[in-house]
Amino acid sequence: MARRKKIYEGKAKTLYEGPEPGTIVQYFKDDATAFNAEKKATIEGKGVLNNLLSEYFFTGLNNMGVPTHFMRRLNMREQLVRACEIIPLEVVVRNYAAGSISKRLGIEEGTQLPRPIIEYYYKDDKLGDPIVSEEHIAAFGWAGQQDMDDIVSLALRVNDFLSGVMFGVGIRLIDFKIEIGRVWDGDFARLIVADEISPDSMRLWDVETNRKLDKDVFRRDLGSLTDAYSEVARRLGVMPKASVVSSKPTLIN
Ligand code: TMP
Repeated sequence: MARRKKIYEGKAKTLYEGPEPGTIVQYFKDDATAFNAEKKATIEGKGVLNNLLSEYFFTGLNNMGVPTHFMRRLNMREQLVRACEIIPLEVVVRNYAAGSISKRLGIEEGTQLPRPIIEYYYKDDKLGDPIVSEEHIAAFGWAGQQDMDDIVSLALRVNDFLSGVMFGVGIRLIDFKIEIGRVWDGDFARLIVADEISPDSMRLWDVETNRKLDKDVFRRDLGSLTDAYSEVARRLGVMPKASVVSSKPTLIN
């Protein structure tokens, strides 16, 4: 097989040059990190589950007209996506308090928020992804005013879609993080939802029991992360055969 050019290796994914210009192959690794990579582990099957779950969410978004980078899944660990310029922000939407907002503002985890709250974090691992305001985003030129309007609109549409899909399978969407990319059609820039949407980047609680079905299981040592993600995949009907989940990742260089 022809060697592919690696473009970028992140904590949970590796990006390779895609087969056509303007495309990228996104490879999902089994690596898990938390607290800005202070805590690390390899969790067998996580990459396969996140690839399938991300495909499921992005396909739904594409089908309802929310523009995303997702083109198609290539195999159990890879998907083909459209290349874009990533805006250096983590866009977090919260429906219920948990995690950093609970700590920062002293709100008990699980408290319903009066309305969805959107927060922005500047993507910089060296700084630990600090929270920033629209003022910082405008002053430092990370995104313009039209971009910000579009980001809010995309974030709320993704929130409504994900909340509904998850509620349909007995799961409460507490919060999630998305990343936004810019693509160019000639001189005209458009924003699309990029990166991944998986239990690595959401908080998901069982509606009946409040069991956590997301990366907090790893962050807080609450049991098997594969079991939690498999439960989400099973409820959504995308659970692969056990032999596929437990297959070792093949290295593609
Ligand atoms: P937080 O409560 O730690 O700020 O996280 C809010 C949401 O964003 C939660 O669903 C997890 C997700 N998230 C990421 O996807 N990546 C990150 O680096 C962080 C800190 C949070």
